[in-house]
Amino acid sequence: DVIDVQKLTSNGIFTYDPGFVSTAACESAITYIDGDKGVLLHRGYPIEQLAEHSDFLEVCYLLLYGELPDADAREKFSNTILHHTMVHEQIISFLKGFRRDAHPMAIMCGLVGALSSFYHDSLDINNERHREITAHRLISKMPTLAAMAYKYSVGQPFVYPRNELSYGGNFLHMMFATPCEEYKVNPVLAKAMDRIFLLHADHEQNASTSTVRLAGSSGANPFACIASGIAALWGPAHGGANEAVLKMLEEIGNEKHIDTFIKRAKDKDDPFRLMGFGHRVYKNFDPRAKVMKQTCDEVLGELGINDPLLRIAKRLEQIALEDEYFVERKLYPNVDFYSGIILKALGIPVEMFTVIFATGRTPGWIAHWHEMISHSYRIGRPRQLYTGPAKRDYPAK
Ligand code: ACO
Repeated sequence: DVIDVQKLTSNGIFTYDPGFVSTAACESAITYIDGDKGVLLHRGYPIEQLAEHSDFLEVCYLLLYGELPDADAREKFSNTILHHTMVHEQIISFLKGFRRDAHPMAIMCGLVGALSSFYHDSLDINNERHREITAHRLISKMPTLAAMAYKYSVGQPFVYPRNELSYGGNFLHMMFATPCEEYKVNPVLAKAMDRIFLLHADHEQNASTSTVRLAGSSGANPFACIASGIAALWGPAHGGANEAVLKMLEEIGNEKHIDTFIKRAKDKDDPFRLMGFGHRVYKNFDPRAKVMKQTCDEVLGELGINDPLLRIAKRLEQIALEDEYFVERKLYPNVDFYSGIILKALGIPVEMFTVIFATGRTPGWIAHWHEMISHSYRIGRPRQLYTGPAKRDYPAK
């Protein structure tokens, strides 16, 4: 009565790998991670160098096209992105169907999926030009949709994009300008915003990117695929972690309480985990976390904010890094550990944190989708280890 798994496979080989810990699902030339050494390269370029010398749009270009742009290509690409930032006015009617208190990630899943209904003319996934224009549209429109989701939640009118602003600056403008007062974009904050997008731009086969690939492998249109990636990103073990970090730091409330939370994180009977700590691939410092920490100091310095949460975060990091439990399991701060504090300082509400992550991750999702579609690929179809009943007869009546 035992079901023979060997017979279920076409080539006689069967691997059981829950969580895909050691199974490569594809080849990719976009991003390289050495988790033991804490190395992250996009198309060969270290993330630290990109964060220091490049900007989000240039990294988008790099991820999509494989090389850094020359000056002409850079200008053309920036112009293209910054001139596709508007969305169809009918999107507003769709948005108004959501409850005001809906989580913005729920709204983003809906809005991005709905974009496919506006671009019937360019949804042929086998047409390279269609794929390219869709990539441009998605990168351009994500900040507009994100800011619209926020404005809707606070009952303010939508702010239209200003294409002369930088990508990060334009996002801050759409978030914070109101008809009553002019919003002057602070260049230091716009740069920090840009860097947050950049640091999230891609991270090879994480849960949301794998979801985009899996959805795309059926031939689904790219807007639907990216919407599925947004859904996967939403969870607290993935993109929802920066929201969870801030909530955790607020709950800790005081450096005196850190030890209690560390104790809880180590207790296997307590489901509490130290949010922003640990990573499936990094068994060393997440290189993005280091840049994020530095950006955090810059932003808080610029704004003259002395946030007690930053003090708690730094102390928590220090204590955890000296604690045997975390050392043994190689649990280090990840990209989400400091990003929440920066976003809070920028005035971005906690519910929007994962939306910002989704906006930053969009070029990575599209680059992976595009890489898959432009090579030969098969529909993704994982197998399972069946543990249910063996064949049995329906009871006679
Ligand atoms: N706090 C306490 N213990 C932890 C933590 C944590 N944050 N993370 C892992 N561990 C422990 C586990 O309990 C396990 O211990 P055990 O060996 O005694 O059973 C061991 O470390 C290994 O952990 P796994 O859960 O097997 O690691 P996995 O690779 O499956 O999970 C994950 C990685 C989900 C990121 C995990 O570390 C976690 O939940 N972290 C907190 C959430 C978070 O910050 N997520 C953001 C990830 S980065 C991103 O998405 C951008």
